[in-house]
Amino acid sequence: MPRSAISPAPRPAASAPAPVADAARGAWLQAFRRVRAETERRAANLTAEDQIVQSMADASPTKWHRAHATWFFEQFLLVPNDPAYKIFDERFPFLFNSYYVAAGPRHARPQRGLITRPSAKEVAGFRAHVDAAVERLIEQVPAADAPRVFEILEIGLQHEQQHQELLLTDILHAFAQNPTDPVYDANWKAPRASQGPRGFVDVPSGIHSIGHAGEGFCFDNETPRHDELIPPVRIARHLVSNAEWLEFIAAGGYATPSLWLSDGWTTVQAEGWQAPGYWRQRDGAKDGTWHVMTLAGLKPVDPSAPVLHVSYYEAEAFARFAGKHLPSEAEWEVAARAGLLADAFGVAWQWTRSAYLPYPGYRAAEGALGEYNGKFMVSQMVLRGSSLATPEGHERVSYRNFFYPPARWQFSGLRLAEFE
Ligand SMILES: [Fe+2]
Repeated sequence: MPRSAISPAPRPAASAPAPVADAARGAWLQAFRRVRAETERRAANLTAEDQIVQSMADASPTKWHRAHATWFFEQFLLVPNDPAYKIFDERFPFLFNSYYVAAGPRHARPQRGLITRPSAKEVAGFRAHVDAAVERLIEQVPAADAPRVFEILEIGLQHEQQHQELLLTDILHAFAQNPTDPVYDANWKAPRASQGPRGFVDVPSGIHSIGHAGEGFCFDNETPRHDELIPPVRIARHLVSNAEWLEFIAAGGYATPSLWLSDGWTTVQAEGWQAPGYWRQRDGAKDGTWHVMTLAGLKPVDPSAPVLHVSYYEAEAFARFAGKHLPSEAEWEVAARAGLLADAFGVAWQWTRSAYLPYPGYRAAEGALGEYNGKFMVSQMVLRGSSLATPEGHERVSYRNFFYPPARWQFSGLRLAEFE
């Protein structure tokens, strides 16, 4: 399975502190700089005005992402582990805490776009202050404390990578509200589907172990590893394409209530959905030419590319239309581990039919960091794989992404499964 690219070296077990080689400190320093620089690289295409906008309650401004990922290091790494650390600005924890109740009160999420101050420049100063302090900590933390400190550092890096993806999905949503169709990156290209035989392939049935195994980082929600019974099922090698989605539209998929879950049909009607997120017919033309808002601006829909920006409701309705199903997350993981899936990673998160629930025996950790995943284990659905916006090295075969069923501003698509 892919290992986290952030992990620079095999780590000493947290329970057995050992002298930390200078090489390990150097590797963590490099990993920290690489991840922090990637956030700034993604933000560099955006003006200060772009960075303020919050286009809906679910999305956050770029400036907020840059500051919040920085607050995470200040709150969970520096304050508890560096007695000499000075909070950059006493007002920032309230502004940039997201949902950590144990870490104190916080600004209302839907109002993040009203925070014109601090300026983007002041946020850059906050980032530089925390960068310097974290680098000092990496270099100077006593060897006995290093395993615990590096463990929190790694969570902070993985967390910042998650926000790097959100930075792109959130700015795309903001740009999609702008009638001038702003371009985030003129050189951005939609991912192409892998070539190779299409069709369905048998997933090895029987009892399989699911969840994180072996070395390397994982989030707590990928554990405990446990057994699942995989029924006889076949899974699509490829992701569902735009061409297939156009057939669904042409067949009246968005106007046929019998294809939809009740909540899905209610959403279709309330939102007026007639196509995936960001799809438009230019100038109101009904000539069947669909365009889609992308990171490179408005582009014609490429029929051969995998469909993106569909909700769970749409994925489920499409599967019903096709006479198929969505795979469960365990079926997906077994198939991915067996190397059966094209475009498992790096194109589109793939909706599964699995509710986001704790694995058997899962318990969230004590304290604020225990709020990271566990408290969200209700009313959401699991997506597997990774997307074109997922930072390099962040994907894992056991990774569990999760969103509410109507969400479609992520790079979310699907692959199908079929039963005999
Ligand atoms: Fe966060």
